[in-house]
Amino acid sequence: MAASKDSDSLDSKFYKAADAFFPAYNNTGLTFDDLTLATLYSEVLPRETQLDTVLAEGLHLSIPIISSDMDTVTESRMAIAMALNGGLGLIHYNMADRDQLSEVSRVKNNVHGLIHEPIKVSPDQLIGDVLSLIEQRRFSFSTFPVVDSSGKLVGLLPGHVVKQRYAKRKVAEALTPRSQVHTVHKKELGRDPIARADRFFTDHPGIHKLLVVDDQDRLHGLFTMSDVERITAERNAQFKPARDSQFRLVCGAAVSATRNAFGELDRERILNHVGALVERGVDVIAVSTAHGHSKGVGDTVRILRGAFPKLPIFAGNVTSGAGVEYLAECGANAVKVGQGPGSICTTRIVAGVGIPQMTALYVASRAVQRKRVTLLADGGITKSGDIVKALTLAHAVICGGILAGCSEAPGEVMDIGGKLYKQYRGMGSMAAMKAGSAARYGHSATDPNRKVAPEGVEALKEVSGTADRVLGQLIGGIQSGMGYLGAANLAQLRENARFIRVSPAGQKEAAPHDVIELKTGKN
Ligand code: XMP
Repeated sequence: MAASKDSDSLDSKFYKAADAFFPAYNNTGLTFDDLTLATLYSEVLPRETQLDTVLAEGLHLSIPIISSDMDTVTESRMAIAMALNGGLGLIHYNMADRDQLSEVSRVKNNVHGLIHEPIKVSPDQLIGDVLSLIEQRRFSFSTFPVVDSSGKLVGLLPGHVVKQRYAKRKVAEALTPRSQVHTVHKKELGRDPIARADRFFTDHPGIHKLLVVDDQDRLHGLFTMSDVERITAERNAQFKPARDSQFRLVCGAAVSATRNAFGELDRERILNHVGALVERGVDVIAVSTAHGHSKGVGDTVRILRGAFPKLPIFAGNVTSGAGVEYLAECGANAVKVGQGPGSICTTRIVAGVGIPQMTALYVASRAVQRKRVTLLADGGITKSGDIVKALTLAHAVICGGILAGCSEAPGEVMDIGGKLYKQYRGMGSMAAMKAGSAARYGHSATDPNRKVAPEGVEALKEVSGTADRVLGQLIGGIQSGMGYLGAANLAQLRENARFIRVSPAGQKEAAPHDVIELKTGKN
């Protein structure tokens, strides 16, 4: 119901839109807990809200959440989980270039409707060789088509014979022969190959693989029932997995402003590596450093924009309007905002530099209006309410700590005093910089003659279950916030948001207080 003019003007004296609220605090840096959002008349049910966001041309996500390019957060497993939930993972760069390429390939090859180039084995190989291949390449499957040297289908090696006890036998002795393998001619796939494969699996109980062949019986592809089922289910999901135009999961990769031994930008290495990432199908490159408003980062973005005119590029980090404009002019599509808000960051303590995140986002968001870029709120998110606040000014958030306890994050689970933890470390911590991330902070961790001050800590996060579960809770919280603000989509959330400053007593009031909390439910 619309409000009367009187109550409208009463509300607006207290609850202010961003352009009135933030400039009124232009001498104070504000972060998430310093402010809260006012509710508005709403006809929007939380479960009906849309969370999709377009971060660059061709880069469309169903949820505005990105996992951080940190070596304790995002490798292929996390990136797959993020994309399946509709978000995006940025593969970190604390690894050899070739390993980053493999991580991206693992994401891009995860669930194809039709796997165009299935991994094949030959009849002369030993089962033991197949077992080593599975271990080396970390395959999660063990059934392989068998082809001869001309690519002709000879049979199918079923998973139940790929066992150590048969290691010395040849594939030829254990395979299911060609005459018993189910195939479809590629011409029969029609316009909807997934529907065709789905029908086949319904008509053939117990058969989980369907191979695609040509006139000469050469192998052209493979459907697996689990992939087909997942894709069929996705068609009805509210938040669809984030996929590229070829139906592969989206995946990002981070790079730094790499320098050569003379301290100059290593143009050739950057171009070769990003070129290889693009060949593997990477959807976005993040030029990820602590100080994005710098010549090295700007020049790296320019080089990439020149060489790959259509490639979506994220760049950062900045906390000023000038920083946003600079990176936009260099060719970035999205700018990462955040200096020092991260849960493992010590930049503000070590360097005395950085801006509380909501003020930084406001300043950056006003520069964005003058440039055609989007904003990514990077760091400091500890609860879904922080994401709602960040999304009043940004187009997506980047999360590290909140995802680091998930089973898909890299690293082992540790049992300490009966509780389970995973390691989570800042990319500016000494250990992470020694492993390769020093360039992100403008250091060389391998040069013993230089003093290096770490800008991050090594820490632990309590194990938090699967990324599906954590993202489910975050999504639920974002949708609630949008319902309270009468926002059916993220553009309306940015439009509708009205803020008020919270006193220290108000902050205390916001969390459970004066009770002893019980946990009886599953969450
Ligand atoms: P959260 O709060 O989600 O923050 O854990 C993750 C973000 O923090 C940044 N980051 C760092 N910042 N020193 C810093 O000052 C560090 O060692 C460090 N490591 C990561 C990064 O932007 C990440 O996405």
